Amino acid sequence: MAQEFWSGAAVVTGAGSGLGAAMVERFASVGMAIAALDIDADRAQETADMVIAGGGSAIAMGVDVADRAALDRAAQAADEAFGGCNVLCANVGVQNFGLVEKLSEGEWRWVLDVNVLGVVNTVTAFLPLMRQSGGERRILVTASSGALVPGARLGAYTASKYAVMGIGETLRIELADEGIGVSTLFPAGMSSRHIESSALARPGGLSGAVVTQEDIDVMMSSRNMDVATHVATPEHATRNLLEELAANRRFIITHGDYRDDMVERLDDLVAAFDRAQS
Ligand SMILES: NC(=O)c1ccc[n+]([C@@H]2O[C@H](COP(=O)([O-])OP(=O)(O)OC[C@H]3O[C@@H](n4cnc5c(N)ncnc54)[C@H](O)[C@@H]3O)[C@@H](O)[C@H]2O)c1
Repeated sequence: MAQEFWSGAAVVTGAGSGLGAAMVERFASVGMAIAALDIDADRAQETADMVIAGGGSAIAMGVDVADRAALDRAAQAADEAFGGCNVLCANVGVQNFGLVEKLSEGEWRWVLDVNVLGVVNTVTAFLPLMRQSGGERRILVTASSGALVPGARLGAYTASKYAVMGIGETLRIELADEGIGVSTLFPAGMSSRHIESSALARPGGLSGAVVTQEDIDVMMSSRNMDVATHVATPEHATRNLLEELAANRRFIITHGDYRDDMVERLDDLVAAFDRAQS
């Protein structure tokens, strides 16, 4: 994508690791200033330092996306540092495996607070700053391949990512007249710290674990996945990000081998319409 399309500042949540850090690298590579937000302040700082070492400008902030007041402070800091926000990536998502009937209320609330309300908080806190920014503006919300092809033991996570898709698609309609494009991203499996960072961010009061080996085995067989073709690096997953965002795509697919399963699911939906009409 032409370098001149991008200007101003990009704000990325979950920027301390994995996909968020890879997004930061992409935006910094086209000269954007970066605000790196993460619950892990040290890792956010490492990402910002990487940008600065490459000659760019960046700030880092330790922010829990479930905390609206912390995001308001982050928006104020981004305003003071860069005077605007042109790209906002609401990218944080945590994982907690478990059967729907076995997940505790606390686990449900944590996943929904971070993955769903975290996206709402992020967008709501930064929209005023985006509105005062000139140039091209984009919001990206990170859903998951799990929102297109569900798998066993992923009920809370899948429900949260369906919600992210709903938020992204609704925002896209609501903000179109203001010239703010909104895209929903569907990453498939990535070689990131997702399980580790989820375990670290998980509230101390919750019992059990984020995942067991049995959860992984059951989930993998339920999703008809081949790890060799389904899992990629975050760098690979962001290779088309700038082009897709610039083109203001409604949906962005990163990689993965689940297209046929997704089409089969869509066919079932279309068939349900056809039965209703017959
Ligand atoms: N890794 C995968 O296989 C995969 C697949 C599909 C979708 N995703 C989604 O991609 C996004 C990024 O995940 P990743 O794989 O890069 O994981 P990652 O663990 O490498 O990065 C996630 C970052 O989010 C931070 N974080 C966790 N809770 C937070 C909170 N409450 N507030 C602020 N920051 C918080 C973590 O500290 C971590 O740095 C998530 O939304 C995830 O659900 C991941």
